[in-house]
Amino acid sequence: MPDPLDKSFVTLGVSGSIACHKAVDLASKLAQAGARVDVVMTRSAANFVTPLAFRSLTHRPVVSNLFDPQSELSMDHVAIAERAHVMVVAPATANIIARMAWGLAEDALTTTVLATRAPIIVCPAMDGHMYENAATQENIEKLRSRGITIAGPAEGYLASGSRGLGRMLETRQILGYVRLVLGRYGDLAGRKIVVTAGGTQEAIDPVRYISNRSSGKMGYAVAEAARDRGAAAVIVAAPSHIPPPVGVSVLPVVTALEMRDAVGSECRDADALIMAAAVADWRPGREAGQKLKKGASRRWNVELTRTPDILAEVQGEHLVKVGFAAETEDVESNARAKLKDKGLHLIAANDVTAEGSGFGTDTNKVFLLDREGGVEGLGLMSKYEVGHRVLDRVAGLLRQCCHDRCADSPLG
Ligand code: PMT
Repeated sequence: MPDPLDKSFVTLGVSGSIACHKAVDLASKLAQAGARVDVVMTRSAANFVTPLAFRSLTHRPVVSNLFDPQSELSMDHVAIAERAHVMVVAPATANIIARMAWGLAEDALTTTVLATRAPIIVCPAMDGHMYENAATQENIEKLRSRGITIAGPAEGYLASGSRGLGRMLETRQILGYVRLVLGRYGDLAGRKIVVTAGGTQEAIDPVRYISNRSSGKMGYAVAEAARDRGAAAVIVAAPSHIPPPVGVSVLPVVTALEMRDAVGSECRDADALIMAAAVADWRPGREAGQKLKKGASRRWNVELTRTPDILAEVQGEHLVKVGFAAETEDVESNARAKLKDKGLHLIAANDVTAEGSGFGTDTNKVFLLDREGGVEGLGLMSKYEVGHRVLDRVAGLLRQCCHDRCADSPLG
């Protein structure tokens, strides 16, 4: 299953705010992800950015004036409303939110909002006091009660010069909301997928620890792909600099032991566990209470003990278990041994020494090895795409599980 944005029709409603420049970036990123973006702007939005800017990025006509006889789309905004798979109003000013709450249809944007049957995402952007005003809050609640998704606003520096709640979300976050909404009826809808990410840290003393080079990118990408297919995705996350993805629960942990506990409790009601984390195999036998002094010694021996093998330990009658294998040699045979020893359904083996693959990169090149002896080599692709390819297999295994369970039941 590809990115839900690919080939989808997204209507982007733009109202007049200094945050319009972020809507230009949003339109560009939506188009880059394969969406067909129809922009509908208010007249005041056109004071901040020109329709030409959107047209240049989306390669599609832009509706800005309902009554402009020169515009081939001026009277066709209803068609835009009808073909939309999702409508995003970004930035949404206090004014447009109020007009939406009242159901007014005075211009191309409000008319499109009323005419569409697609899910709507509203991204507020305004001064902090305007946002806090009871009238705005009531209007937002009205929209929410009609099933409209309110995305943001965020806290931070505002155009008025003050700090407060009123900044439009960043493009990355809005894209997360759009994918969440578009993917909600995907092939993993109703499933809970637990993913681990990052490298655990095993403390030696209060300032030193043993860890590895995992950035968390692989695990976060798998979780985002799961969200985009409708799953309830949970990341058990070792320390990482990656911000929490929209619509994904992130449970922070530090050590292998903490990861084991969190995975164990999350897997009680999960359908699948996908472990992309690089879990330390060894940890210091005991953590020193104070910073260890180097003194005059030339050597330092730290006694290490084994950490639990989380994947091997976790139980669940119908839990699909997927591992990743970070290898530097004999990739396939080492990964196959792990598949067997840990009782996995599938393992994604990556040669972490290969160009563009493994730790810290945005791409990865993996082999998928299954219980039946099958090997599927995937070329170099984004970690998000790797996530989807792993989830294609997980979705198949879950379907198979359901099928087997039904066949075993007395009702057939
Ligand atoms: O985070 P990135 O920078 O994006 O990098 C991605 C990655 C290289 C970390 C990822 O693609 C990857 O290979 N993850 C697995 C790393 C690893 O620990 O491999 P392993 O071969 O040592 O372990 C095999 C499997 O057992 C893994 O799924 C691991 O999570 C699990 N394991 C390992 C040790 C342990 N004590 N308990 C475990 O459950």
